[in-house]
Amino acid sequence: MSGETRPGKPGRRRFLAGILGGAVAGAGGLAVWNTRRAKPPSEKGHDMNPRLFSFLGGDAGPWSVLEMKVIAGDGLPDVKRVDLINGPALTDATRWTLRGVTSNERYATRKEKDLLVAKQQGLGRPEATRAALIPIRKSAKWWALTQDERRAVLEDRSKHVQIGLDYLPAVARRLHHCRDLREAEPFDFLTWFEYAPADVSAFDDLVAKLRATEEWKYVDREVDIRLERAGA
Ligand code: HEM
Repeated sequence: MSGETRPGKPGRRRFLAGILGGAVAGAGGLAVWNTRRAKPPSEKGHDMNPRLFSFLGGDAGPWSVLEMKVIAGDGLPDVKRVDLINGPALTDATRWTLRGVTSNERYATRKEKDLLVAKQQGLGRPEATRAALIPIRKSAKWWALTQDERRAVLEDRSKHVQIGLDYLPAVARRLHHCRDLREAEPFDFLTWFEYAPADVSAFDDLVAKLRATEEWKYVDREVDIRLERAGA
């Protein structure tokens, strides 16, 4: 259904071009730009998806890497700094670039959403000088489940939201979906968290609790990157 093209409606190619903007270098990306409808990358601002975020690992950027740990599957090349851009990465002077888009919620109930909104803080708080970028991939077994089966694992049996709520407002977060760009992205999710130095051990407790749940049995690739705002 998602791949259907109807007359007068934006087709899948256009949809992808809109989502990707100029993010993808190489043959795949150029093929998108060569379509009649897509704007070339030089026309910045057009067809740019405001929900697209890029994480650039390299020697530049406001976040210094304190530690990179492989939790499951393949790791990522070591880097000194991470840059976070709202939009496509316009440079390839980095060791790796990870991309994802923010999206609507898929699992949280109205009651949970109201609790989250009442308690959560936004990113960018001056005191939140520590951060974690945790890219995660889930197994084919997870993606073969139905929506109700996934919700049963994530919340009924693993209490992901209930556990997470205990760590608000100290931890601010943003979830980026990679499968919405294309299935071949190296991770399914890029999770981003910001907190104050005083909350480092609380954040460690939180990830330990989540990793002990049934949900994490479906995680087949995970890298835990801890960061400090440069100059903090
Ligand atoms: C700060 C406390 C946290 C809260 C309040 C929280 C809350 C949530 C909520 C509400 C969702 C579901 C969104 C939806 O309905 O689609 C979610 C999804 C997710 N969270 Fe958390 N979370 C927290 C911490 C974490 C941590 C520390 C990690 C990683 C170590 C993590 C990884 C994920 C992932 C990968 C998803 C996507 C799951 C999926 O769609 O399969 N979360 N989180």
